Amino acid sequence: MDIDIVSVFPEYFDVLDLSLLGKAKSKGLISVHAHNLRDWTHDVHQSVDDTPVGGGAGMVMKPAVWAECLDELLGLPEADNTDRPILIFPNPSAPLFTQQDATELSHAQHLVFGCGRYEGYDARIPTYYRERGVDVREYSIGDYVLNGGEVAVSVMLEAITRLLPGFMGNPDSIVEESYTGGNALLEHNQYTKPASWRGLDVPAVLLSGDHAKVDRFRRDEALKKTDRIRPDLIAQLDCHALSKADRKTLIELGWEVSGDHPRRIS
Ligand SMILES: C[S@@+](CC[C@H](N)C(=O)[O-])C[C@H]1O[C@@H](n2cnc3c(N)ncnc32)[C@H](O)[C@@H]1O
Repeated sequence: MDIDIVSVFPEYFDVLDLSLLGKAKSKGLISVHAHNLRDWTHDVHQSVDDTPVGGGAGMVMKPAVWAECLDELLGLPEADNTDRPILIFPNPSAPLFTQQDATELSHAQHLVFGCGRYEGYDARIPTYYRERGVDVREYSIGDYVLNGGEVAVSVMLEAITRLLPGFMGNPDSIVEESYTGGNALLEHNQYTKPASWRGLDVPAVLLSGDHAKVDRFRRDEALKKTDRIRPDLIAQLDCHALSKADRKTLIELGWEVSGDHPRRIS
């Protein structure tokens, strides 16, 4: 996978040389290029921002400098639509980036990320590229405001690249995780040795060696935890894909399990 990142702080992405992402880079699984947006400016101050039209505080990133940079990275206007990278802008006022988005984007060949700063980027930039047939995505990573898109891009990149075949040492580690799969739940609690620590014991069933019982216990824990913390995920479950035991647990938790999705009744 080829990844281009545009930022006014490209050094921020030196951190991608660490840990599993760094290993994936050295294995050639991903190639990452962080570009300085200021390299596409022509003025002596290398300015990338200007005052907001209509007034207000702060500065807005200028479309012209972004367009020179993005035309080059996207290969416009020559490149065929089908070969074009997906263009991604982090934006706190966009739809939330989810595991589903990470999974979809992990199949892409080439991603280009544009990091906003200041009050954000001129809204005509994504519109312009969409109108030229580019697949443009804008995502928020959560309901809070960061200083710039760099952290958000790092978050998205980590979520996307860890799904690439060969990225994780043990591919099984990404199969049963929170938010993963068709009927996604939060993951059950995890424990390691020792079985007893500072007066706290791991649940006895996990030491029983009975795999069926362990699986059921974990599944029930996942259902209970999701019910407690993210009931919206329970309400999205496909009832038709739930086992008899899942249904029993959900009914005990106060859900009606009929029709397409569970409904909380108590
Ligand atoms: C200070 S923020 C701009 C906030 C904008 N004025 C607003 O109120 O929605 C500057 C840049 O940081 C990035 N950013 C900040 N918070 C973010 C979030 N929660 N998710 C994704 N990107 C974010 C975006 O690239 C944004 O353009």
